[in-house]
Amino acid sequence: MANLTTHYLGLELRNPIIVSSCELTDSLENVKQMEEAGAGAVVLKSIFEEQIVFESDSFIDSTDTLLGPMKKGLQDILLNRSYDYIEAMDYMTNFAKEHTLNEYLNFIKLLKANVKIPIIASINCVSAYDWSFFSKRIQEAGADAIELNIFILPSDVSKSAADYDEMYKKIIADVKQYVSIPISLKLSYYSSSLVKTFIDLSKMGIAGMVLFNKPYNPDINIDLVEVATGKIFSSSNDYARSLRWTALLSGRVDCDLAASTGVKSSETVVKMLLAGSTAVQVASVLYEKGIEEISNLVTGLNDWMDVHSFKTIDEFRGKLSQINLENPAVFERVQFMKSFAKIGG
Ligand SMILES: Cc1cc2nc3c(=O)[nH]c(=O)nc-3n(C[C@H](O)[C@H](O)[C@H](O)COP(=O)(O)O)c2cc1C
Repeated sequence: MANLTTHYLGLELRNPIIVSSCELTDSLENVKQMEEAGAGAVVLKSIFEEQIVFESDSFIDSTDTLLGPMKKGLQDILLNRSYDYIEAMDYMTNFAKEHTLNEYLNFIKLLKANVKIPIIASINCVSAYDWSFFSKRIQEAGADAIELNIFILPSDVSKSAADYDEMYKKIIADVKQYVSIPISLKLSYYSSSLVKTFIDLSKMGIAGMVLFNKPYNPDINIDLVEVATGKIFSSSNDYARSLRWTALLSGRVDCDLAASTGVKSSETVVKMLLAGSTAVQVASVLYEKGIEEISNLVTGLNDWMDVHSFKTIDEFRGKLSQINLENPAVFERVQFMKSFAKIGG
């Protein structure tokens, strides 16, 4: 049996398989099952700004019908951040918000009392909002690390690439003021100068980056001629983008890398580690095959290491990252030349 231990975000994981942030990590029973199946760590379902708006809303509805008519005002406060409402509304908002946040914090405490593997909390950040302060509460609840799920679609015509970079930097700086536990960034690939931007972000004191978050993708239904929901789960070919950027960034960023999206087999786990990731994150494969699939990923990794006589992950991690390749251009190639693709003979 090889030694599968890895270090991610300064935490020692018994192996590099981390369950990604998703609803599967939403119950104690599931997280216990993940631990039994061999997961190295779990990332909790993100707490979203919109969730707080929604849950605060229904909380007020269900506890005090007199406050019902003020519901719209509450939403406006939370969504528009217009703080010129009456003091009572402020009080209500804070009370309801506190209730929602407390549920998340209590869940962290429950997990920490019942499982041994690291628990990484996740916050969906679209603005600095109250998240920096909330991060402090997450730390106090006992989370081992915080993943900041920052998926900003750069679709605003009035903003430049630099404006978008600044948004990420502001969130990191704000959160870092409040916490000492490791912070990782779960990022999207929508960045105009990805390598430079990510290297810059990695120098801001974060402990890791998750490459990449999977966006919700709208689709179009051509029978109904309307916008439809795209596929939620990744396919097993979706790993290529994360593989390329992991290989390009490994050894260049000042933090750990976790590869995510399309990691659905132990072969892909091995590829991501060879490209230079410290850990991988999985979600779709667990929805499709069940939580017990974690043990197959761990066993498959171990078997591959045995076959190749690797005793530890560090012996091969990053072996095929761009900085370690004789021909570093392979990860930068983007055109299908005829002779390269061998299409059509
Ligand atoms: C049902 C579902 C819910 C998810 N919820 C979250 C979430 O709350 N926060 C987050 O950062 N990612 C969320 N994700 C994205 C996953 O964490 C992961 O990054 C993505 O699914 C790609 O990994 P995969 O190819 O292994 O599925 C969710 C994914 C799924 C399928």
